[in-house]
Parts: sequence; structure tokens; C-alpha cells
Amino acid sequence: MRDIAELKQWTFQRPGLSAEPVEVPHDWAIKGPFDRNNDCQVTKIIQDGDTRLYEHTGRTGGLPHVGFGRYSCPIEGPSSPERCVYLDFEGVMSRAKVYINGELAGSRNYGYSSFRIDVGKFLHEGGNTLEVTADNPPNASRWYPGAGIYRPVRRVETDPVHFGHWTQVVRYLPGSDSLQLSGCVENASGRERSGTIILTSPLFDPVSLECTIPREGFHFEQTVKLKEHRKWNIDDPALYPVSFQVKSGKYSDEETVRYGIRTCTFDPERGFLLNGKRVKINGVCMHHDLGPIGAAFNRAAARRQLEILRKMGCNAIRTSHNPPAPGLLDLCDEMGFLVMDEAFDVWHLPKIENDYSVFFDRESEMDLSDLVRRDRNHPSVFLWSIGNEMCEIYTENCSDGDAIARRLCSIVKKYDRERPVTAGLSSCEAAIEKGIAAELDIPAWNYRPQKYHLFHQLFPDRPVIGSETLSTFSSRGIYYFPAYEFCFYRRPHRKEYDEHQCSSYCLDMPVWAMAPEAEFLAQDMNEFVAGQFVWTGFDYLGEPTPYKTEWPARSSYFGCVDLVGLPKDLFYLMQSQWVKDTPMVHIVPNHWNWDAGRRLDIHVFSNCEQVELFINGKSFERRSLFAGSSVLAERYRFIWHDLEWQSGEIKAVGYRSGEPCAEEVLRTAGAPAKIRLKTERCECAADGEDMVFVEVSVTDKDNNPVPNDRSHIRFCLAGGSLKIVAADGGDPTSTEVFHLPECTLFSGKAVVYLRSTGTVGKTELTAGCGGLESAKIDLFAVKA
Ligand code: GAL
Repeated sequence: MRDIAELKQWTFQRPGLSAEPVEVPHDWAIKGPFDRNNDCQVTKIIQDGDTRLYEHTGRTGGLPHVGFGRYSCPIEGPSSPERCVYLDFEGVMSRAKVYINGELAGSRNYGYSSFRIDVGKFLHEGGNTLEVTADNPPNASRWYPGAGIYRPVRRVETDPVHFGHWTQVVRYLPGSDSLQLSGCVENASGRERSGTIILTSPLFDPVSLECTIPREGFHFEQTVKLKEHRKWNIDDPALYPVSFQVKSGKYSDEETVRYGIRTCTFDPERGFLLNGKRVKINGVCMHHDLGPIGAAFNRAAARRQLEILRKMGCNAIRTSHNPPAPGLLDLCDEMGFLVMDEAFDVWHLPKIENDYSVFFDRESEMDLSDLVRRDRNHPSVFLWSIGNEMCEIYTENCSDGDAIARRLCSIVKKYDRERPVTAGLSSCEAAIEKGIAAELDIPAWNYRPQKYHLFHQLFPDRPVIGSETLSTFSSRGIYYFPAYEFCFYRRPHRKEYDEHQCSSYCLDMPVWAMAPEAEFLAQDMNEFVAGQFVWTGFDYLGEPTPYKTEWPARSSYFGCVDLVGLPKDLFYLMQSQWVKDTPMVHIVPNHWNWDAGRRLDIHVFSNCEQVELFINGKSFERRSLFAGSSVLAERYRFIWHDLEWQSGEIKAVGYRSGEPCAEEVLRTAGAPAKIRLKTERCECAADGEDMVFVEVSVTDKDNNPVPNDRSHIRFCLAGGSLKIVAADGGDPTSTEVFHLPECTLFSGKAVVYLRSTGTVGKTELTAGCGGLESAKIDLFAVKA
């Protein structure tokens, strides 16, 4: 028998502060306050082209994650002396130490690794104290890492005969249309035993294996013929339970793996094939934070991210640049996303002094093995990545990058021979010259669309993937004119930049990147390109490039979607490329409130054949894309230059086969008059974890959204089934704390994050602001 209990209620204390009760997953830093001195890194980012040391203020988000924290909670000893007790941690940020009754039981340095600690010998019968400490040094990350026990912890109690941790493996053997099932049974009973292993699933007829289980444990392997089944696919992600049971006298154990049958093939000429059919990888890179609720994993918040990305046409996630929360992989399995599962951002050479390079030599084998062993049964995982832009590539005199790559690849292959190994390569030419690229099953390229054909020639037996693409800067709802003058990296003397925002024409980017259209062209022209991972799907905390030294700037500008889940214009540019069936048009700038006399370039992002633009009913002609244009943007955007703004409305109509099929209308809004609340889902499970997300906006008296509104809205609740955990407008320069029931709108919008308290019932959310008509919405937590 296996008993699993999630440990949720803990006491938490930071030095000099009083102890407080907290719920795990917990991120001690997300409540702020923001401060430019929090992990202000005086450094030179060589890979960004920095030539001198300077202060990078918001690099890790300006939140107080640096320092020491101590968690404690009571834990029961084994229910009988022979039972085994383990603690399973999905992730502690970082340098975790685990103590039972004051004695060190185990530790883990890498904050993104999941790990198990055998605590049996430290526990006595009855009550015990579990303590976990985390310690985050400064200068250890390039983005916001979060702090503390930010992923679930479980107490697992088993009989002495039980399955080994992460040992059960299900493998689909397409040639024989069968499954290979294997695993390890551990035996802590002190003597050899006889036992039975029972394997059951709707996928095959039950199997029973009689065996002898020696004291050192037992490895089993069995092949079974598959019954009729559906394949796992991105639009029909069929999953089946496969149950492993072991029985030995009075002892037993059971674990269930959720498996999906699919084949993933990489073809040097045709890119990527899922179940034999070509699928273009429309991927995004994602950091692990969940915006204003921080790094603490929450399934509902992660699911919402994926739902939003799916609407953009995204079908793949790169877990940049570290092992993801297991819960994210579960969601990807269920929702049909492919995953590039990445292990490291650095190897032996540091990007910043206290990063993972400190542990790499000693611990990378353990961390990488654990990642592969943990994640290899997920059908969503289709690629392992052993690194990102490692300094070994571009550091002169460093010649062991290829040997490290070889070592890491062989670690992966020890536990999974199926999936190819890749890495996100920068300085691609050096990666080739130093032999690092050649070590990888699939070398993957960051920011080199112009060289895809060359890589294809150099590695004719491997497909090409853009592991990191675009890196386009934009702030939701912000536009600078003329559009094209903002299309180069950070022009230092533009007064518009003083507000620390970026223009949303999707033409601004760092020196290492190229306009989105350069990537589109390379993807379109080359059948052998398997696809790409855009940097990034969502904005994330930290790395506010291009405002690396300016404060306040605390979150990124790279996302297609902002920090709180509101789509930016880049979302629609990607949608115009990735969504084929449903016709769409999106006007940039995406509002119609300008000053008299303002002249504007209008860009329309659309997947239609033609688009016609109207201002106050007057047509500015129907246009087709300019396939041969020497201006790259004109091949992918419908552009009208230098139109004069007139109060009223602008409308774009999309046509397919000459018929109108999509339109967008933007109207000039009057003075702010009313608050609006809306949600896609007003109901959640009353399980203490599920969430509801409410979008807040301000309209004029005729219900037109007021685009630039920056009202400060206060929220209150009637009813106890939900609580507000965050409210934010997604402004990268805001230093308002997230968790208070108030926030300032950014470009006319914000999102309130509400979480179930565990009680069933209705809760009414009211939003108010002096001078505006307030709004109410009823939300429900229903029996889980
Ligand atoms: C890449 C790097 C990412 C991020 C990005 C920003 O070079 O791999 O982590 O920093 O640049 O453009």
C-alpha cells in the first residue's frame, strides 16, 4: 500500500522577521516590495554585447528573492516500523536542505530539479518536525527565479516492497505495434521474497509476472501487444492509464503512468512528423513564473497560459532554460502541446558568478538523469535540451564544449534512447567550429534564420529548428511614430524611451535578433525547417531588455502576451502566421484615440488574402500582400503609410476568395465613464487551488474601451469562496505590489487573479474608482 499526502500547510520565517503560516507551493519574494537594489547585478553581459560593467537593475525582477528562508511543518513517522517514508520535492529555489528533527536528511542545490529524500531512518514513531531551508545568493540568475518551496511537496509512505522512484517506463514500439513496460522493484524487507507484478491498462490484456525479488531489488521488462487505441496528437491528445502493481505477501504497491501512443520523427528534408504527418512546430519559449503570482506553481494559472497560447496557434513549449514543473507537463499531455524539455542555461562556465556553473561539474549528471527519468513517460516531451547558449561556445580558449555535450548526451541516452537531444545554440558559427553542434542529434539555432539553408547543407542528415526566434520588444498598447524609426535596437536619444516602454509595431528588437518577418520568410522558404520557438510566449519577471540599467523596469518586453495574459499585437502577428482556418484581422495601432493632425502608419496583421481599410466609411483600398517586396514587413503585413487620423472609426475587412470573412472595428473613445469586468470562466472548483481570472477595463459612456486609461481601481469581495491573490495591469515599469486588491490599469486594462478558498459558494467581485461607474461580477466556486 502506498499513502501519499501533499504537505501544504507550513510555517515560514526569514531572518529578522516573524514566523508566518504559509501554503506550499509558496514563493516568498512575490509580495515584494520591488526595489532597484534587490539583486542589482553589476556585471557585463558578454553575450548581449556589453563592453563595460554596469548596474543591471531589474534583471531578476527587483523582487526580494535573495537570502535565506526556513520552512517547517509537522510530519508523521512511519505508521509501522517496517514502512518506508520518502519526501518528494518538485522544486525548491534554491540550495535546499532538508532536516528531520534537526538532523540533515538531504539537500539539493539546483532550484529547478525535482528530488526524493529517503527520510525513513530519521523519523521516529508519532510526530516529527520537518524543516526545509532555501538560500538564494545574489548574482545567480538571469531572470526572476522565485524563492522557497515553490512547487508541491509530498510525503510518500510505502511497504518495504515497492517500485523504485521514476523507474516505471512505458515505451511504444511502433514496428511491432506493442508496448515495452519496465520498472524496478525495491525490497527493504531484509530478505528475498516471491512476488507478482501485474500490469493493466485499456491498451493491452492484463499481464501477471511471477518473480523472485532479491534483497537488492529486481528489474522487470515485458512487451505487450497493443489493442485498438487512439494516437496521442496535438488536436486529440488521447491518454491511457498504465498501471503497475506489485504484490508480495502482505506487501503491495501500485503506480499509474499516463501514457500517450505517438511517433515523433525528425526528417532532414521534411522537418518534424507526428504520427507520420508533418507538423510545423509553432512553439514559444516560456520561463517558469506565472506573472503576478510568481513562481509558485498553480495548475489553473498554467492552464490559462496554455489556453491563451493555443489561441495564437501555438503547439509547442520550450521550457527555457530549466526543468519545468511536472504539472506543466501533465497539462501539455492533456492539451496536446509538444515540449522541448530543457535542463540547463549554463554548463561549466558561468554567465553570472553564482549561477548553476558552481554545481555543474559535480551535479549535472544527477540533475540531468533525474530530469530524464522523471519526464520520459510524457507523450508531450519530444526533445531533450541539454543547454542554452552556453559560454563554452563563444569563450575563446575554451575547447571542452564538445566533450561536455558528448557527456550530457550520453547521460540522456542512458535513460531514453528514443528522443533526440538538442541544445539552443548561439554564436552558431563557433558552435559548429568547436564541434558542439555536431554532438547533438539535432543542433538547434538561436536567432539565425538567414543561415538555415547553410546549416542544412552542413548537417544534411538532420533537420533545422529555430530554438529561439524573434525577441521582439513591445509594450501592450504603446505605439511610437513613425513606426519604422523604432525598428532598431534601443535608439538612445528618443524621448519616447524615457517612459521605459517599447513600441508595439513589432519592429523593435535587440542586436542579436531580426524582424519577425525574417524568421517567417526562412520558415516558409525552407521545407526542411521543423519550426521555431519564439522568445517568448508570455512576458516574464526580470530581464527587462532593453532597459537593463534603467529603473523602474521589472519584467520583460519580449512576450507575445503580456505578464497578466493579455495579448499584445505580436500575438496577432503570430496568429496571422500560425492559424490557418479561422480568418482574422488585427489593426496596429490597436486603438483609435489620437491627437488631431496625427499621421499614422496602419499595419494590419491578417491571415486573409486581401484586406481593405476604411476610415469613417472611406475606403483606403483593398490590398494584397506584397510577396516580392524588398521591405520584408510588406510581405507579411498589410501596410498603409502615413494616413491622417480622424476621430470616428477605423475598420479592417479581411477577404478570402473575394468574400469578406473577418473584420475589426476600432472607435474613438470619449471620456472614461464605466468600469467593465469580464471573464471567460466565472466558475472554479472549490478545492483551494483553482482560479478565476477577471479582466478589468474602462469604457466611455457608449461602451467603447478607453485605450490609454490609467485609472487606479480598487476591488472588494462579498462572499468567502474566492480570495484575490493578485491584480495587475501588465505594465513592465510598474512597482505596485501584486497581491493587494487594487491596481493601476495599463493601456486601459488589468487582470484580477482570484483563487478558491476551499469553500463552495458565490463571491461577488466589485471594482471601483472615484468618478467611474463601478462594476460587479458574480463568481462561483463549485464542489470539486
Ligand atoms: C537569448 C537567451 C534568452 C534571452 C534572450 C533575450 O540569447 O537565450 O534567455 O536572454 O536572449 O533576447
